[in-house]
Amino acid sequence: MKLFLSLVVCGTLAVLASGEEKSAAEEGGISFEYHRYEELRKSLVSVWLQCPSISRIYTIGESFEGRELLVLEMSDNPGVHEPGEPEFKYIGNMHGNEAVGRELLINLAQYLCNEYQRGNESVIELIHSTRIHIMPSMNPDGFEKAASQPGDMKDWFVGRSNAQGIDLNRNFPDLDRIIYMNEREGGANNHLLKNMKKAVDENTKLAPETKAIIHWIMDIPFVLSANLHGGDVVANYPYDETRSGSTHEYSASPDDVTFKSLARAYSSLNPIMSDPNRPPCRKNDDDSSFVDGITNGGAWYSVPGGMQDFNYLSSNCFEITVELSCDKFPPEDTLKMYWDQNKDSLVNYIQQIHRGVKGFVRDLQGNPISNASISVEGIDHDLTSAKDGDYWRLLAPGNYKVSASAPGYLTVIKKVAVPHSPVMRVDFELESLVERKEEEKEELLDWWKMMSETMGLPV
Ligand SMILES: *[C@@H]1O[C@H](CO)[C@@H](O)[C@H](O)[C@H]1NC(C)=O
Ligand SMILES: *[C@@H]1O[C@H](CO)[C@@H](O)[C@H](O)[C@H]1NC(C)=O
Ligand SMILES: [Zn+2]
Repeated sequence: MKLFLSLVVCGTLAVLASGEEKSAAEEGGISFEYHRYEELRKSLVSVWLQCPSISRIYTIGESFEGRELLVLEMSDNPGVHEPGEPEFKYIGNMHGNEAVGRELLINLAQYLCNEYQRGNESVIELIHSTRIHIMPSMNPDGFEKAASQPGDMKDWFVGRSNAQGIDLNRNFPDLDRIIYMNEREGGANNHLLKNMKKAVDENTKLAPETKAIIHWIMDIPFVLSANLHGGDVVANYPYDETRSGSTHEYSASPDDVTFKSLARAYSSLNPIMSDPNRPPCRKNDDDSSFVDGITNGGAWYSVPGGMQDFNYLSSNCFEITVELSCDKFPPEDTLKMYWDQNKDSLVNYIQQIHRGVKGFVRDLQGNPISNASISVEGIDHDLTSAKDGDYWRLLAPGNYKVSASAPGYLTVIKKVAVPHSPVMRVDFELESLVERKEEEKEELLDWWKMMSETMGLPV
């Protein structure tokens, strides 16, 4: 009954849409045109109506001017975290005038829904094994401002910031400064926001959009993410902020090898991004840090307070920043071309979430151990297990020693050979120290009994 109703509603919408938008380029129900706020909302609703069993719309909060920060979730079980299933997110349009990412994410949602219904096996497999969250616009106020300028030529800056004039990609707590201090003086190498959550809520310098994203990152066990921008063409990976504070300096994170491979997973399938002979977007641009369509953030230019590094340093989530187009707000008739350039990259990047090592951490009775530390020898960045004891450790192919530890338990170390794909399943069973003491006591008693018997002493 529910299905029947949705189909009828969907049919009505489709008729309405085709009547209204004759001029826009269309392909398989994907419309290549700019979507203003109301149209964005409608396009997400129509995906949901078309694919109700694998999608859900929710909001993580409101912009300064009260527009909703909408998310379309795609999963075989929308609305719940399934133990063992990794969670992915795409965020577009953080800078309101960088419009291509916003449109690509609307296109992507429609594409995944279409292909799922067509029986495309790799898309079905992806949606069944991954919980995918798609936020086309993190800065809907900025977009409305940028889009309401007349004509095809848009100003380079109008609409970049949120409605308060805050640049959202400079507005996150600067955890790089803390990690660089901890590297020198000792201290935590992960989850650096732990004792600062209250301070974040009370901080009046943080934009409402920033706060909403921080809560989202804290609430959901995201594993992998990308943040879509415009103004250049490159996949940028951590760290974004330099150690010394200088403007250009390669700033490797402990996961440099893995991040490079993630960024390449995006750039390599985009023929423009990966073209070694692509001229710089503007004659005087310094692209000297770009290799194979990827760049370290700090090597390009230092960004303090960015969202990418915040993800990595405050949570288990690995995020890269993708620059999609030389023009920030290109003419509408180029949107189909951008989709063609990025479609395979967008899907391939989500698939990277199934790389490295994953599994569960449990005690000897099979109870989940959450917040256990997952460490990899030689990589100074630990992750933690989620609520059900499930963990995901993205790793480039190679041989590793992975350990799981938790207070009150004996640490377990395992050797793992990680192939390119698929993800290796490695579960950990941790013996509690209390259990260990009991065992030792019993062993001692047994030994005492045996000794007493052989020596003919009274037991
Ligand atoms: C299925 O989807 C994948 C991922 O987007 C795509 O590469 C592939 O061409 C699609 N298969 C078919 C038969 O269309
Ligand atoms: C998680 O574990 C770490 C290290 O063992 C500890 O410092 C932290 O307080 C724990 N957090 C929670 C929420 O239990
Ligand atoms: Zn940007």
